[in-house]
Amino acid sequence: MTVYRDFPEKFIWGAASASYQVEGAPFEDGKGASVWNEFDKRPGTMRDDVNGDVACDHYHRYPEDIALMREIGLTGYRFSIAWSRIFPDGRGRFNQAGMDHYKRVCEELLKNGIEPYVTLYHWDLPLALQRDLGGWESRECVKYFGEYASRVAQELKGLVKNYFTTNEFLAAADVAYSMGLIAPGLKLPKKRVNQVRHHLLLAHGTALQAVHAADPAAKAGLAENPSFMVPIIDTPEHVAAAKKAFREENARFLTAVMEGKYLDCYLEQEGADAPCFTDADMKIISTPLDLLGLNLYFGKRVRSAPEQPKGYAIFEEQEKHRVTGIADFNFEPASMYWGCRIVNELWHPKEIVISENGKRSLVDMQEADGQVYDDERIKVLRLNLTLLARAVREDIPVRGYFHWSLTDNLEWHHGFRPRFGLIYINYTTQQRIPKLSAQWFKELIRTGRVV
Ligand code: FCB
Repeated sequence: MTVYRDFPEKFIWGAASASYQVEGAPFEDGKGASVWNEFDKRPGTMRDDVNGDVACDHYHRYPEDIALMREIGLTGYRFSIAWSRIFPDGRGRFNQAGMDHYKRVCEELLKNGIEPYVTLYHWDLPLALQRDLGGWESRECVKYFGEYASRVAQELKGLVKNYFTTNEFLAAADVAYSMGLIAPGLKLPKKRVNQVRHHLLLAHGTALQAVHAADPAAKAGLAENPSFMVPIIDTPEHVAAAKKAFREENARFLTAVMEGKYLDCYLEQEGADAPCFTDADMKIISTPLDLLGLNLYFGKRVRSAPEQPKGYAIFEEQEKHRVTGIADFNFEPASMYWGCRIVNELWHPKEIVISENGKRSLVDMQEADGQVYDDERIKVLRLNLTLLARAVREDIPVRGYFHWSLTDNLEWHHGFRPRFGLIYINYTTQQRIPKLSAQWFKELIRTGRVV
């Protein structure tokens, strides 16, 4: 059996983070509140009653964190901008001090040979937009997101060449507005949630156009976690079934972005609850991407099922596979390869990057000698990256990989217990301790080869 393990020299090796999860400093330098700064104070929302007021203190400690990135050899850093640092009320008044912070971060990255990849929306909506307009329920919010995107791209021109508009529609829409697990923590009926979904798609397209207009040299795309489908056996009928399943099961988000339409199967399934939209909306939503970011944590196995109406059957996660732990799921490593291949065959994106991937998640601990030996994370990365190497080898245009995450951080409502970083954080002292996986990653980058 051939094992693929080599990556090209120019491959971007990065790590990723999100503003709320790492920054702290919720009101510093004129920042306005985001929905998270309200949500995390509401009793019962956050595990262990923690909040993001300090988190990893990355707002102040970014020079130290960037020095650690350099030590590992990273060539990319994906981070998100907190919208409410730039526009404290989400619209209107611009906050130069907040913008200057991100300029300094970008300058520091570039000085260290690290390419900034900026996410414009990683779920921390300015609170004023939620309070005054109902957040993403309102079409007006879309307009303000476009204005914010435009301003950021103007300000960061020459510093940032790559943007992701939004991160993960499913969480931003469903988990926030339907399941109520993350901010703003609402449980809206289906019809209204579908409208939120549509507005987020429209916000993505609007921001993409705004970035292009403000900085034609910049590349823009989105970071999305579609449901990945892996054919149970690599034979033509199962591969065809997995492709069909991928397109249809992602009809509400990624397929709409890539094809400029909601598939009939989606509209029929939603019936009277389907979103209201126009042809003009769909044109904006499907503005061609320069780069497609895939967040890879889940993957389902699929088989061809001619006896069933859809022609495919998905093996749903079974209780017997569930690993006891925090935020852990039944990941199918083969989706590293099949995710890229299916997306490529369906839509031929110009460029794919893995915008997030990692072990989901561990309760890493410092041992008696002060070190963190996360061998389990290394095991998972070794397998995942070998499968990704196959995609690269087959000339699928995968150009980079961002590990989630650089450091341990605040895993949203799950609190600080689940740890995802290459770097351990002692939350009492804010000490950073590179884990064994950071050493492994360093070696991977140095050699361009999975070992
Ligand atoms: C992704 C999110 C990221 C983090 C990881 C573990 O879905 O984008 O912020 O929570 O999962």
